[in-house]
Amino acid sequence: MKIIVKENDIEGGAAAFKIFEKGIKNGAKVLGLATGSTPVTLYQNWVKSDLNCDNLTSINLDEYVGLKPDNPQSYHYFMQKHLFDKKPFKKSYVPDGLEAAKDPQAAADHYNQIIKDNPIDIQLLGIGRNGHIAFNEPGSSFDTVTREVKLTDNTIKANSRFFDNIDEVPKSAICMGIANIMSAKKVVLMAFGKNKAHAIKEMIEGPVTEQVPASILQKHLDVVVIIDKAAASELY
Ligand code: F6R
Repeated sequence: MKIIVKENDIEGGAAAFKIFEKGIKNGAKVLGLATGSTPVTLYQNWVKSDLNCDNLTSINLDEYVGLKPDNPQSYHYFMQKHLFDKKPFKKSYVPDGLEAAKDPQAAADHYNQIIKDNPIDIQLLGIGRNGHIAFNEPGSSFDTVTREVKLTDNTIKANSRFFDNIDEVPKSAICMGIANIMSAKKVVLMAFGKNKAHAIKEMIEGPVTEQVPASILQKHLDVVVIIDKAAASELY
C-alpha cells in the first residue's frame, strides 16, 4: 500500500484527482466511483478540470434499496450533482434501487454482469468508522459480490445526517461485494478526519480479518491511501 498523508481534505482531494487524471491519461477507461462526504473534494477538482470524460465508463459502489434516482438522498442523485451534470461520462452505472426493491437478486445479478463486462481500472473507496468499504459491514465475507445488504444501526445513524430524520434512512442497500472491489486493477481509498483514524490504523496495521473489511486491501497489489493528518493520527 502506498500511503499519502496530506494536511486536509482539500489537499487530499487534489492529490486523488491527480491519480485519476494520470490513470485516465494512461488508458484507464472504467472507473469505480463512491459517494459520501469523503470524495467531494476529489469531485470538486474533477469538475474544475479540463479532463475529457466522453470515453469513460463509471460503475458506482452502491445505492439505497427503494430510492428513486431523482430522490435527493439517492446515490444516483449525488453522482449527478457532484460529477456527471458537469462531466458527463460515456456510460454511468449506479445500482438500481427500485429494481432492487422489487427483485434484489435480479438487480444484483444484473450489476455483477455489468462489472464482468466492464472490468474496473481504478476503484475509488471511502471507509466507514467500523472499517466498512461500500456497505460491506464487519463480518462480510471476502468472497462477496453485488447483493442486497442490511445496514447496521451504526451506519444508519452515521448516514442519517443526510436525511430529515433517522426513520427515513433505508434499511438496506444494493452494494458491490468485496470480491468485486478486489478485482479492480488499482484502488484509491480516501479518508479524512479523526473519526476515521482507528479504521485507518486497523486497515493498514491490523490483521487481515473480515471483522475489518478494508483490511483485505493489504492483499491488493496496487492500493493508494490518501488521508489527512487527523486520519493518520493513530498510525504507528
Ligand atoms: C459510499 C460508500 C461508503 C462510504 C463510507 C464513508 O459509496 O460506499 O462506504 O465510503 O461510509 O462515508 P463518508 O465518506 O460519508 O464518511
